[in-house]
Amino acid sequence: PPSVPERIEEKRRAALLGGGQARIDAQHKRGKLTARERILLLLDPDSFDEYDMFVEHRCSDFGMDSSKNKYPGDSVVTGRGRINGRLAYVFSQDFTVFGGSLSGAHAQKICKVMDQAAMVGAPVIGLNDSGGARIQEGVESLAGYADIFLRNVLCSGVVPQISLIMGPCAGGAVYSPALTDFTFMVKDTSYLFITGPDVVKSVTNEDVTQEQLGGAKTHTAVSGVAHRAFENDIDALLNLREFFNYLPLSNRDPAPVCECHDPSDRLAPELDTIVPVESTKAYDMLDIIHSVVDEREFFEIMPSYARNIVVGFARMNGRTVGIVGNQPKVASGCLDINSSVKGARFVRFCDAFNIPLITFVDVPGFLPGTAQEYGGIIRHGAKLLFAFAEATVPKITIITRKAYGGAYDVMSSKHLRGDANYAWPTAEVAVMGAKGAVQIIFRGKEADAEAEYVDKFANPFPAAMRGFVDDIIQPSTTRMRICHDLDVLASKTQSSPWKKHANIPL
Ligand code: COA
Repeated sequence: PPSVPERIEEKRRAALLGGGQARIDAQHKRGKLTARERILLLLDPDSFDEYDMFVEHRCSDFGMDSSKNKYPGDSVVTGRGRINGRLAYVFSQDFTVFGGSLSGAHAQKICKVMDQAAMVGAPVIGLNDSGGARIQEGVESLAGYADIFLRNVLCSGVVPQISLIMGPCAGGAVYSPALTDFTFMVKDTSYLFITGPDVVKSVTNEDVTQEQLGGAKTHTAVSGVAHRAFENDIDALLNLREFFNYLPLSNRDPAPVCECHDPSDRLAPELDTIVPVESTKAYDMLDIIHSVVDEREFFEIMPSYARNIVVGFARMNGRTVGIVGNQPKVASGCLDINSSVKGARFVRFCDAFNIPLITFVDVPGFLPGTAQEYGGIIRHGAKLLFAFAEATVPKITIITRKAYGGAYDVMSSKHLRGDANYAWPTAEVAVMGAKGAVQIIFRGKEADAEAEYVDKFANPFPAAMRGFVDDIIQPSTTRMRICHDLDVLASKTQSSPWKKHANIPL
């Protein structure tokens, strides 16, 4: 019989081959990389330390105990490594072994890296590519999912958790990505749904393809389940590396600081003329964001969903910041249900992980109508308000133009513990626009009332006179002001009353 060293070597070789060359070829033919190829692309060269290469499933039903049905490492590759020198824990589901399906052993491997990540304080990255629960194992596999879900919840707000969907993810399996902070997808080869097209057909009689039901386009533009989609495996993994650089390793860590070649006192003269003279004319809030942040680099989150609000990560003088901005180009930048939820979730992530918030405000109010009211805009809008109010990270707000009504309060106003709140000269902080206001208070009878209202309210003075904005600043100086404020606010500490946890309206 082979010696122990020979057996070790043989098992390692088998583990590296997963489900075998034929299934690896099939994976490649689908345009997908293997679990191991993905890890190599994600992590720095030679930095991967693998765990549990010898773990095998323990199922003996349906002939599963025969040696040809055992694969060292089972259907997931786990371990830790470095991304640009910073520690990360990873699991990568191996579709070549039983379709990446989740056995009890598979779940245990994932739980092991999650537990250690939480203990040492490092993010968990999941590369999902799985046919779901290991059908041969039944309830053991369901228990495995629950063990992972529990850890997702306990890790939430402790270490960043990122899911990259690179193949099927269906049934109960979807709830792990859903519980993580960010879900990214690969176009054309990944999908997420609770039940597949066949079940949908039999229950609701709808005809729908996998792609329509749960492809990248659906989840990044319609459902809001996924935060970004990438062209292919390589593109997704390289973007994930870039994204990782913005994140602190844990809630005990400050946001990372990169070397910055963009001067913090750089003026942005183009901003002095960016807001159109006519207050009903649109402009692109992304232009302002690009002008203000380091080297025009902005990693947008959910760029295709609720486009009336823009959220994402950037750096100011090398330090990670979270950016929130109303987008006047889409629905005039109105807040509605989807944009409130999108904004709130982003703000809460930043607050949980010590990332300062920069908010650009041009908001004419909440979107009116029965669709919004019946959909619960009151409780959904409250989420964004709640998120900004509870956030204790440095908060800097710039009102570029409109800040009307309740939406003014919501958008990181001074009243919600804003640290530095500025108005540009074009700011209009008021209960509503002049036309509507005059219509209500004078029923349109006073001909010159509109001019009087504009003169009184459609400017930054009423807010500035009361100290609700700290200063009225020249737009070109915005970057400089924010960088100075962030330096000062780096040592900010602020607390809220003791509680078990808050009860954000859901
Ligand atoms: N449990 C055990 N084995 C599974 C599995 C599961 N949940 N899902 C897939 N597999 C196996 C298949 O039997 C197949 O094995 P083989 O290579 O020995 O033939 C292999 O994984 C690849 O699956 P296949 O169906 O050939 O791939 P596909 O790309 O055509 O389809 C899925 C992928 C995921 C759509 C399909 O496998 C599927 O529907 N799986 C079941 C999903 C499910 O209902 N899961 C349980 C609920 S959570």
